Amino acid sequence: MRAIITGVGHFVPDRKLTNNDLKQLVETNDEWIISRTGIKERRILEKDKGVSYMAVKAAEMVIEQRNISAAELDLIIVATSTPDIMLSATAAIVQKELKATNCWGFDLNAACAGFVYALSVASQFIENGKHKKVMVIGADKMSAMIDYEDRNTCILFGDGAGAALLEPSNDDNLGIEDFILHLDGSGNKYLNIAAGGSLLPASHKTVDKRMHYVYQDGKTVFKRAVIGMADVTTKIMKKNKLTNNDIKLLIPHQANLRIIDAVAKKLGFNQDKVFINLDKYGNTTAATIPLAMSEAYRKGMMNKGDRIILSTFGAGFAWGSLLLKWAID
Ligand code: UT7
Repeated sequence: MRAIITGVGHFVPDRKLTNNDLKQLVETNDEWIISRTGIKERRILEKDKGVSYMAVKAAEMVIEQRNISAAELDLIIVATSTPDIMLSATAAIVQKELKATNCWGFDLNAACAGFVYALSVASQFIENGKHKKVMVIGADKMSAMIDYEDRNTCILFGDGAGAALLEPSNDDNLGIEDFILHLDGSGNKYLNIAAGGSLLPASHKTVDKRMHYVYQDGKTVFKRAVIGMADVTTKIMKKNKLTNNDIKLLIPHQANLRIIDAVAKKLGFNQDKVFINLDKYGNTTAATIPLAMSEAYRKGMMNKGDRIILSTFGAGFAWGSLLLKWAID
């Protein structure tokens, strides 16, 4: 039994935060941000809404496309690093809003690698015959965790969500073929939110020291991201005896255009084989890949039978690549 993607959807808030808007907040400029990152604008969710709002909208788009009822879902996995609340799971809030009355679910935190991790997990429940419909969502409200006084990070991130439905197929020429995932906790110190967890619960001190915001050593993360994504993609292609000609589209994590270009160069991929939308959204963490996948599908860039590689790198460090054959007409 193969796990195939039968529907994809996404949601981004209407409000745009442009490079010129950021110029009002920190010492930066449009030219620097575009040349160093490729990002022109990001989307920002309203203050009074949590990440579940976007996750539900993305899942609803999938449910509508696939023309099913939410009650048919067996499992909901929400990949996020920005849950609505610390306890309970965002998956529970999404379940309630969707009225998915016959499922279980959980959150998965692997930062930017969350969606690829979640897709890999979900595929196991399909392949072993346990479930028939698994909704996999990647969603993050990064604007809630970003210090808009820190120019090293505030220019990079935005809010968004994407979702995919996994179902079984007897056609073993379609669907998820392979994945290679990695985790290296020694990378934690280069990209994190230090406080707000059980180690350093919120206190006056953690707030005063701005420890509830994203911290990043950009240079180190940049280098590790290029090496990590290029190496794991080379590995998965070699393992499956594939050349560049066999791949229709590489959908990389959207963090920085220079990272994507360097990965593509190392792999020898032409630009037309690499999907990019970070100019519009910035880095939406767990949402970048499903958001890109949904847009690529709707732009007609993926047809049934096309081989696609998803590749990601993020906090942890957690990274990996997933190989699939597109199954939607
Ligand atoms: O999803 C995975 C997580 N994140 C990533 O993958 C991001 C990885 N890192 C990056 O994308 C890049 O490292 C950044 C975009 C964060 C930074 O780019 P960089 O080319 O590594 O710049 P830098 O940090 O070396 O800074 C170069 C200069 C510095 O000035 P000096 O020291 O040369 O005088 C910075 O102070 O640019 C300055 N700078 C800025 N200038 C204008 C740093 N941030 C800004 C800014 N606007 N926003």
